[in-house]
Amino acid sequence: MNQVVILAGGHGNRMKAVIPKPMLEVLDVPMLGWVIRSCEGAELSRICVVTGYKAQYVEMYLNDRYRTAFQAEQLGTGHAVMQAEKFLREFDNGNTLVLCGDAPFMDSETISQALKFHESHENAVTVITAELDDPTGYGRILRGESGLAAIVEEKDATEAQRAVHEVNSGAYWFRTKALLELLGGLSQSNAQGEYYLTDTIGLALEKGWKASAFRSENPEVILGANTRKDLLYLNAVARQHVLEKHMENGVNFVCTDGIIIGSDVEIGAETTILPGTIVKGKTKIGAKSTIGPNCLIENCTIGEHVTLNYVQAYESEIEDAVKVGPFVHIRPNSHIKNGVKIGDFVEIKNSTIGEQTAIAHLTYVGDSDVGKKVNFGCGTVTVNYDGMKKQRCEIGDNCFIGCNTNLIAPVKLGKGAYTAAGTTVTKDVPDYALAVERADLKVKEGYSLKKLRSKLFPDSDGGKN
Ligand code: UD1
Ligand code: CA
Repeated sequence: MNQVVILAGGHGNRMKAVIPKPMLEVLDVPMLGWVIRSCEGAELSRICVVTGYKAQYVEMYLNDRYRTAFQAEQLGTGHAVMQAEKFLREFDNGNTLVLCGDAPFMDSETISQALKFHESHENAVTVITAELDDPTGYGRILRGESGLAAIVEEKDATEAQRAVHEVNSGAYWFRTKALLELLGGLSQSNAQGEYYLTDTIGLALEKGWKASAFRSENPEVILGANTRKDLLYLNAVARQHVLEKHMENGVNFVCTDGIIIGSDVEIGAETTILPGTIVKGKTKIGAKSTIGPNCLIENCTIGEHVTLNYVQAYESEIEDAVKVGPFVHIRPNSHIKNGVKIGDFVEIKNSTIGEQTAIAHLTYVGDSDVGKKVNFGCGTVTVNYDGMKKQRCEIGDNCFIGCNTNLIAPVKLGKGAYTAAGTTVTKDVPDYALAVERADLKVKEGYSLKKLRSKLFPDSDGGKN
């Protein structure tokens, strides 16, 4: 059986991160997530992740989906693989792919092609390489007359070796039995005092085993991130690829400034994404919609002909022909049905809003089930929290809610019910009834004049005469 060991235990000192480096995100997915996705794309599901520095972050992310092996002390990439020995021995008949958790672009295709190459050459080890214009920071591939000779780390390399542009991706296919034997031969005799996995190449050749390099035509697949600058570069590369993919699918960008789209996002043709818009997670956007400017959308399903303008929306569904914004917050677990209009300064949370309902301005709808064609007056508040628990409001079809209505949950407005402006509704209102809660208006004639006189007539004697 073929299997994978992913190295994610290192400190990542150069990042100055408080979380393990492979947990840093490229677009909206941790680098480790990219690597796992590529393995699964190549139909490799037996995966062991080596954790170490702040292992709890990696464990939390993996959530028991994959095996882990803990590296208590970070003594190098070779030492990291040694920690997975138990995992390797369980199925030592096939091949093992070793990947770095900080090189997110290694893709399924390259992994599969390298495996074919590895098997057809009957190699003990195959290292994936590429030619980089700037090889700084990577291990250099040294080739002799009979092919691959060794990998030398930049810190250990001579000037002539540093001039080599073919570099080690940090991804290798090993025959599992060979890997187990080679790990036993590693030592710490190098500039960093670490067990280098790269030394397995020289060791294999010394044993007379076959080892060679599979050179990727696309240098991007090997890019890794050791510094914040590298990470920014990876983000720029990934972002551009995602935008190009959507353009090929007919998505319209007038200008791409500030637009960041996660790699799992799906967008229909003829939808326009406007500047300053960030779309993350498993979001799906239908065709012919306009999203932006300045929207932040996470894990939402959005229909066709939708307009979102200055909207933040999370874990919610927005159906077709809905118009939202500007300055609207749609919080998790909301369902906005066809043809709804939501205007400025509105917050919706954990609520269903029925077809063609209008919530035009300055309104909070939380924990509520709202019917069709309801009209919310400006400043309506569903008072869903009594300081102890959250409760629901139910608003029937065709209700007309007057401005500044408070609906004290739990409460129900029947079908077609009206509330007068300023009403605080504390009990259920039957179908087609009007709820009005008002004190009589008192008008005190001339009341303000007494106070205003000195302002209005400063030169007089205050109006006494
Ligand atoms: C490594 C390779 C280098 C290659 C480069 C590709 C070695 C010695 N060098 O260098 O040839 O060009 O990757 O990106 O292998 N890790 C552990 N435990 C450790 C040390 C590292 O789990 O004790 C993990 C890190 O979290 C990281 C990966 O291994 O995900 C690579 O480690 P890193 O220190 O970044 O190696 P590089 O210096 O980049
Ligand atoms: Ca690295």
